[in-house]
Amino acid sequence: MSESNVFPVSEAWRKKAWVDEAQYQKMYAQSIQDPAGFWGEQGRRLDWVRPYTQVKDVDYTGEVRIRWYHDGTLNVSANCIDRHLADRAQQTAIIWEGDDPSESKHITYAELHEQVCRMANVLKAAGAKRGDRITIYMPMIPEAAYAMLACTRIGAIHSVVFGGFSPDSLANRIQDCDSNIVITADEGVRGGRKIPLKANVDIALQHCPSVASVLVVRRTGGKIDWHADRDIWWHEAAAKVPAYCTPAEMGAEDPMFILYTSGSTGKPKGVLHTTGGYLVYAAISHQYVFDYHDGDIYWCTADVGWVTGHSYIVYGPLANGATTLMFEGVPNYPDASRFWQVCDKHKVNTFYTAPTAIRALMREGEAPVEKCNLSSLRLLGSVGEPINPEAWLWYHRVVGKKKCPIVDTWWQTETGGILISPLPGATELKPGSATLPLFGIQPEIVDAEGKVLSGACEGNLCLADSWPGQMRSVYGDHKRFAETYFRTYPGKYFTGDGCRRDEDGYYWITGRVDDVLNVSGHRMGTAEVESALVAHKDVAEAAVVGYPHDIKGQGIYAYVTLNAGVAPTEELRKELVQWVRKEIGPIASPDLLQWAPGLPKTRSGKIMRRILRKIAENDSGNLGDISTLADPSVVQNLVDNRMNRG
Ligand code: PRX
Repeated sequence: MSESNVFPVSEAWRKKAWVDEAQYQKMYAQSIQDPAGFWGEQGRRLDWVRPYTQVKDVDYTGEVRIRWYHDGTLNVSANCIDRHLADRAQQTAIIWEGDDPSESKHITYAELHEQVCRMANVLKAAGAKRGDRITIYMPMIPEAAYAMLACTRIGAIHSVVFGGFSPDSLANRIQDCDSNIVITADEGVRGGRKIPLKANVDIALQHCPSVASVLVVRRTGGKIDWHADRDIWWHEAAAKVPAYCTPAEMGAEDPMFILYTSGSTGKPKGVLHTTGGYLVYAAISHQYVFDYHDGDIYWCTADVGWVTGHSYIVYGPLANGATTLMFEGVPNYPDASRFWQVCDKHKVNTFYTAPTAIRALMREGEAPVEKCNLSSLRLLGSVGEPINPEAWLWYHRVVGKKKCPIVDTWWQTETGGILISPLPGATELKPGSATLPLFGIQPEIVDAEGKVLSGACEGNLCLADSWPGQMRSVYGDHKRFAETYFRTYPGKYFTGDGCRRDEDGYYWITGRVDDVLNVSGHRMGTAEVESALVAHKDVAEAAVVGYPHDIKGQGIYAYVTLNAGVAPTEELRKELVQWVRKEIGPIASPDLLQWAPGLPKTRSGKIMRRILRKIAENDSGNLGDISTLADPSVVQNLVDNRMNRG
């Protein structure tokens, strides 16, 4: 290794882990030389109703076709639950830790089985059929996992919408996939505060005629409006249906779920994942990256509203028969030691969180961590955004006591599972690097013209070939799928990320190269925030860019041009921030909002975001060529009135 800041694999890890370095190299080489052989064998980690004879059928050109195991049939919930019952019916499947530290419960595989069967039967009684789209808008309670698994049991396609999204965002997502059923709770609880989920659903459904039934889980017992023709209490309905539901036999390529995510243009798109390949990939990546062994207590702090929650709270761990912890709360409630208290309380061995949480907790100092024992921890993980070496080193030293490797896992909603990450028994670590590709993953770094670069280099990250967990389409718009991911660099999947490869072949993700922001690990399209702003009656035009933010990674910087005659007041500034919050959700609130009498545009009217980014980053000495602007004088005004970072 050429750098001094390298953390070698310990002897203990090398011996204990599924694979050491030599085994990783061997398996990786096999996976690239003979993908059908490698994945054919890996597919057998699942139970198939009708075994597949075909493994891979992929064409990245033309209309783009991606199929894995396509003549096999299986059921996801049977793979995540039923097949474990013989050996582990009484093992805890889910540990639920409530927002209030005095609330927690353990759900065994036998209990999970019954609850999922009941929910599947309730959905059927409400008219759900194979292929229907069911929207899940839930807090982090076990019923969220039951709902997802119940959909897979009957072959319905779930679309989980993060509980922090506004009624409008929820309505858009329901309409896009034409859901007929919504599953929600009366209220959510986070950080001691209530979230009016059912009330949000009621507002959203004013614009969603396709929805015939709303299944409501009672979480808080708070007062809610009730629509008797449409709303169903889960606890009442569950008692009336049988405790067993036969799992539907699904084709490997039948759609399993849709998850909306932001792109650089337009509305969020429905990323479509299918049944067989997704589950194989979630299971194998969970096993090797987290070096999962029987008996481990595993905790991923994500929300099930994001892909991390899908693959690494629910599907990967349960497919592997693991004990997975689900946390309802937030890192700093009741205080900044909460994560570590939960680790001690449940003897967590593997802990997987986001850099933004680590940075926020790091700011609280070491005392909240030192109060806890943390001796159960063996492995730490990071996901969602680049982790700065300072946060990595703190996580390693203060949380991991220098004995826990950190797996910095790079992936995307589109990839279904982790693609670049260390394996704890095999990979020497470098703080800030996601290190090396997993089995079957062929990263390529290309320059702007699409030339594949070799050796140490920096450019745009592509993937040369498919893996089973890859998204199959944009729901309802396959053309958009092909155009978004496969046309920029023909014949390759383009990730939208920038990346550097060092002289050891290690990958360092540098962040998005498109107009997608990553705010506290949440993906947000600049276009979405802009369209929310211009929907306000006083706004003529808006442009949104990201800027470096100490805790969030990126903050949202909005430039707003008001309609003629409207005065730019502090009240209006606050109102616009609130407006975006209400239109999209709190994660989209602009951190800084600057009045812009004019925006820098080319003569053809295109907004020059490069310049706006430089101003937001306080790098206005380095604006580059502005002579091509229609009106270069607007730039000086923006520089002079730049907002100070909060
Ligand atoms: O820019 C990369 C960043 O998050 C993007 C994907 O976001 P999303 O689809 O919401 O999925 C997040 C959870 C998988 C990527 O394009 N990203 C994710 N993980 C990392 C990362 N950037 C650097 N390092 C990571 N470990």
